[in-house]
Amino acid sequence: MAAIGSAVGLGNIWRFPYVCYKNGGGAFLIPYFVALFTVGIPLLMAEFAIGSIFRKSAPLAMRDISRKAEWVGWWGAFSAFFISVYYCVIMAWCLCYLFHSFGLIWQPDASSFFYDKFLGVTSSPSIFGGINVQIVFALLFIWTSIYLILYKGVKSIGKVVAITVPLPTLLLLILTLRGLTLPGSLNGLEFYLAPDFSKLALPSVWLSAYAQIFFSLSLAQGIMIVYASYLKKDSDITNNSLITALADGGTAFLAGFAVFSVLGYLAFQTGLPMEEIARGGIGLAFITYPTAIAKMPFATSFFGVIFFLALLTFGIDSAFSMVEAITNGLKDKFGMNRRKATLLICMLGFFLGLILTAGSGIYWVEIMDHFISNFALVIIGLLECLIFAYIFGGEKIRKYANEVSEIKIGRWWNVFLKLIAPVILISLAIASIVELLTEGYENFPSWALAIGIIVVIFGIIISITMVRIKCRQAQ
Ligand code: ALA
Repeated sequence: MAAIGSAVGLGNIWRFPYVCYKNGGGAFLIPYFVALFTVGIPLLMAEFAIGSIFRKSAPLAMRDISRKAEWVGWWGAFSAFFISVYYCVIMAWCLCYLFHSFGLIWQPDASSFFYDKFLGVTSSPSIFGGINVQIVFALLFIWTSIYLILYKGVKSIGKVVAITVPLPTLLLLILTLRGLTLPGSLNGLEFYLAPDFSKLALPSVWLSAYAQIFFSLSLAQGIMIVYASYLKKDSDITNNSLITALADGGTAFLAGFAVFSVLGYLAFQTGLPMEEIARGGIGLAFITYPTAIAKMPFATSFFGVIFFLALLTFGIDSAFSMVEAITNGLKDKFGMNRRKATLLICMLGFFLGLILTAGSGIYWVEIMDHFISNFALVIIGLLECLIFAYIFGGEKIRKYANEVSEIKIGRWWNVFLKLIAPVILISLAIASIVELLTEGYENFPSWALAIGIIVVIFGIIISITMVRIKCRQAQ
């Protein structure tokens, strides 16, 4: 349940539906499932198995495989922490919007409300701008909640995910039903799912599928390793991987219905073409969807509250899983007590997040997200495949998984971990680099992109430094 909570997050609601529509609609499900079965599930299984075998956080499990691999574990955990910094800022926006839903105060122009009034966005990432106190308090609330959920340990995580997994799923179902009963919704769905098989010939479509799987399954961040280390020794690895992956994909697919039915309604109401209305990311959650909600015939505030509550509850278990990855690393390596490590990381996360609450924050959220997901995570995933398959031994992982699992996997699995997944991840990394060099990213100035690269490199340097610091049980 905790692994599902970690995987299902903001990415499922605002990333998947848009990526799906952009890349061939219904036809995108083919590359999506291919990506799920060739990289997503094999790597997830390997992470679950490594966590279950070593019963340690990612850095120290890596260290047990080879001293030279420890830094990769830290790099994953630090990347998870960096993601949590901006992820919590987005959740703070959701919390503010949950309250704004009562008065639908983004009306009449949700875009200008969001950028000008709410965020006070500056004209460039270099102009810091003012800080919105409301967002600061919301951020403090989010980090305090994460601390309170985590400091006691895994039992309270269990209790929280028993609510934060089913509740938002139920809310999503309510939103889907509401969406489907609005006029114009079927046009929206047609737009979302009409298959365009010609798109399958484009490499970029396949790359998008892999990137989506990678981001959404919380891979390469040490999260699934640490969660698996909490499992009972003989817990079923293969079933857990399949359930986590399919629940994640299923929620993303369902979210597409909730989102596109409402976008279809907005197109119907405004007379604008769907191409102009459909968008993903931050714009979808804070501009397009709120605009559509305000035009609903009744209970508008109610559906606003439900939407933002769903985002918050989907997001919180992803956010705290990212914190778990790093605090467990600190706990295992330096013998830090759980409370102290959690407090330290939550405070650091809050203070770093403060920078992102300023008028320039949204630029930095986008830059950090782009560089960490497209570069750091993909390279860490690649290194993990190589370490697991070649240094630890893919066959050992397979045998272990088969011993404890109901479904037995054949030798073909080794080929995925050893060859197919690494080749795909190298292609992903190269494609991202080529894209960055040829097209840049959005309209960001190159110095801002350079800072994105510096954040990635900083992650590597700090990880190597952690390896050099003496371990509690230094050998
Ligand atoms: N896996 C999490 C998400 O999809 C981070 O949002």
